[in-house]
Amino acid sequence: MRTKAAVLWERGKPWSVEEIELDPPKAGEVLVRWHYAGMCHSDDHMVTGDMPAGLPIVGGHEGAGVIEEVGPGVTTVAPGDHVVCMFMPACGTCRWCASGRSNLCDLGANLMGGRGVDGTARFHGRGEDISAICFLGTFSEYAVLHERSVIKIDDDIPLAAAALVACGIPTGFGSAVHTAAVRPGETVVVAGVGGVGAAAIQGARIAGAEKIVAIDPMPFKRDAAKIFGATHTAADFAEATELVRELTRGVMADAAILTVGVARGEHIAPMMGLVSKGGRVVVTAVAPMTDTEVTLSLFDLTIFHKELRGTLFGGSNGRADIPALLRLYRSGQLRLDEMITNRYPLSEVNAGYADMHAGRNIRGIIVHDVG
Ligand SMILES: NC(=O)c1ccc[n+]([C@@H]2O[C@H](COP(=O)([O-])OP(=O)(O)OC[C@H]3O[C@@H](n4cnc5c(N)ncnc54)[C@H](O)[C@@H]3O)[C@@H](O)[C@H]2O)c1
Ligand SMILES: [Zn+2]
Ligand SMILES: [Zn+2]
Repeated sequence: MRTKAAVLWERGKPWSVEEIELDPPKAGEVLVRWHYAGMCHSDDHMVTGDMPAGLPIVGGHEGAGVIEEVGPGVTTVAPGDHVVCMFMPACGTCRWCASGRSNLCDLGANLMGGRGVDGTARFHGRGEDISAICFLGTFSEYAVLHERSVIKIDDDIPLAAAALVACGIPTGFGSAVHTAAVRPGETVVVAGVGGVGAAAIQGARIAGAEKIVAIDPMPFKRDAAKIFGATHTAADFAEATELVRELTRGVMADAAILTVGVARGEHIAPMMGLVSKGGRVVVTAVAPMTDTEVTLSLFDLTIFHKELRGTLFGGSNGRADIPALLRLYRSGQLRLDEMITNRYPLSEVNAGYADMHAGRNIRGIIVHDVG
C-alpha cells in the first residue's frame, strides 16, 4: 500500500514528506494507522547526526493509533484496538525483560539501524529500502511494526494525549521515579523543560518531592514548568546553584535530572554541584555520540558519596508503566493535555521542529489526516 511519510534521506537535510510504499504485516507484525505523533528531540538527533541512524529513515517514535490488520501469530492486539507504541520493544522473555528491565530488551539490538526487529525494511521509496526510527515510523500515516512494540490502551483515552506516553512521558517520569528514585520531602532539580523535562517535573511531584527547581533559559518554559509542579525556576546552572543553596540552607538537592535538548560533557560538573552529599545525578538527555570528555570532580564523587546515573526510557517497563501513567492521567494527576503546545499537519513537520528549537513547544504533535 501507499502511505504519506516524513523521510530523512540525508543527514542535515529537512524531513521530506512524500508518498512511499509499505509492505503488509508479516508473522508477529501489525499494521497501525497513526492518529497522532509526538515530536521528541531524539528524532532531531538523527537529523544532526548526534545519534547515528540507518538512512533513509521514516521519523517518529512517539505515536498512538488504531490497529488496522495483524499478521499471522499475533496474540496481544486485534484490528480496531487503540494502541500506543514503545520506542523499545519488550519481548518479555530475555534476561532484561525477565528481570524487570524491559527498557534494555534484546529486541532493541538493531534499534539505531531501524530496519525492523528481523533486520528487514517494510517501507520503500525511490527504489530503496527505508528504515523506521526505533522500528516505528510514527511520522507516517501507516506503519508496520512488531507486536512487541505496541501496547493496547483503553478506548476512552484520547489518542493525542496517549501519543506522549510512547517516549517522553515514561522517560521523564521514570527518570524521576525510577532512576533518581525520588522520595517524599526531597528537593529535586530538573534541567531543561521540554517534553521529557516536563514529565520529570511531574514524576518528582507525584513521588512527593517538596521542592522542585526547573532550569531553562526560555521564560516561556520556566512559566510552563509551574503548571507541571515546579516550585521554583532558574535561567541557568549558576542561578539554580545559588537558589538551591538558599532553599536548602546549603545542603543542596537530593537529586538532579538532566533533560536539556543536547547533553554536553560540561553540564556534568554543575549538575554534580547541585546535589548534596549522597545525591543522585541522572543523565536522561542524549549527548552527541562522539562526545567523550566530561568535567567531573572524581574527588567529590567519592568523598561526598555522589552518584551519576544514565537512564534509557527512564528505567520504565512499558507494559506495566504505560497503563499506570494513563491511569494517572485519567485521575487528573498526570497532566498530558497541558503538555501539548502546538499541533501540526504532517506537511508542517519541519516547522514543528523549528518551533522546538526556538523554545516554543513543551511538546509539538503531528495530527495525521484520518479522514
Ligand atoms: N534517555 C532516553 O531514553 C531519552 C528518551 C527521550 C528523549 N531523550 C533525550 O532527552 C532530551 C530532551 O528531550 P526533549 O524532547 O524534552 O527536548 P526539547 O528540545 O523539547 O527540550 C529541551 C529543553 O532544554 C532546554 N535547554 C537547552 N539548553 C539548556 C541548558 N543549558 N540549561 C537548561 N535548559 C536547557 C531548552 O530550552 C528546552 O526547553 C533530548 O536530548 C532527547 O534526545 C532521552
Ligand atoms: Zn523520544
Ligand atoms: Zn526482552
